[in-house]
Amino acid sequence: MSPSRTLEEVYPPFGLRVTCGDLVLRGITDELIMPLVEVARRGVHDKGEEENPLGFDWTAAPPRYLAINYARWAWGHRVNFTRDSFILALAVEYQGEIVGVQEGKGEKFHLTRSISTGSWIGREFQGRGIGTLMRQVFCTFLIDQLGTQEVISGAFTDNPASQRVSEKTGYVRNGIHRIPRGTRSAADSLMYRLTPGTLVRPKEPVEVEGLEPLRRFLGLEGDAGGSAEPA
Ligand SMILES: CC(C)(COP(=O)(O)OP(=O)(O)OC[C@H]1O[C@@H](n2cnc3c(N)ncnc32)[C@H](O)[C@@H]1OP(=O)(O)O)[C@@H](O)C(=O)NCCC(=O)NCCS
Repeated sequence: MSPSRTLEEVYPPFGLRVTCGDLVLRGITDELIMPLVEVARRGVHDKGEEENPLGFDWTAAPPRYLAINYARWAWGHRVNFTRDSFILALAVEYQGEIVGVQEGKGEKFHLTRSISTGSWIGREFQGRGIGTLMRQVFCTFLIDQLGTQEVISGAFTDNPASQRVSEKTGYVRNGIHRIPRGTRSAADSLMYRLTPGTLVRPKEPVEVEGLEPLRRFLGLEGDAGGSAEPA
């Protein structure tokens, strides 16, 4: 029996590619999991538990757990991404090399058009403008292709690189939120909000493959979408 639909049609993030110059944001298919683990294993930051930039520092797992933890995280998205629970994590490829992840989350996106972003890249790739480019490309995609009306981000007060990336993408400061940091403490996170009118687009054009199946999956085309019900 030959399947009438491809896996990319059933789970559209697998077929999504957002390209801008040397940068590609790609759905995290199985063959990208171990390259991402390898980047993380080489290091994302050099901070201790209570200064880590990620809040929950999954990179601090003992090496023997890092890969399975990461695979479970990636596989979990496939289970949990529905129309009502938007969770899109994309691998970042720069000049043909896997360098990190750009993700967005939101509840009932078809109603709110609101997404919260998070990202990381390996230390070896930081400080070269890639973090800014991937955020500008992702936000341009969210706003132009999915009709997003606000993008939210947070950065601990001692994470100037993340704050600068938000500023360079056009986010505006809109408060402070106290969140857990590590397993024993909490810290202030500066909150940022981007709206379509303040977006700073990348210099080169953003091209998208696999958009229509994703829009249907999200219920943006009048389809029930979201895999909550068999499609
Ligand atoms: C945050 C992160 C994605 C940024 O990526 P990146 O490629 O390093 O960012 P860019 O090179 O595009 O830009 C970094 C900006 O921060 C600035 N910056 C970096 N360290 C800084 C510091 N200690 N003080 C002041 N500015 C600093 C850089 O000068 C640059 O700004 P500029 O272009 O105006 O000079 C990356 O550093 C990262 O993955 N960090 C670890 C995980 C993390 O913090 N994730 C975000 C959690 S909210």
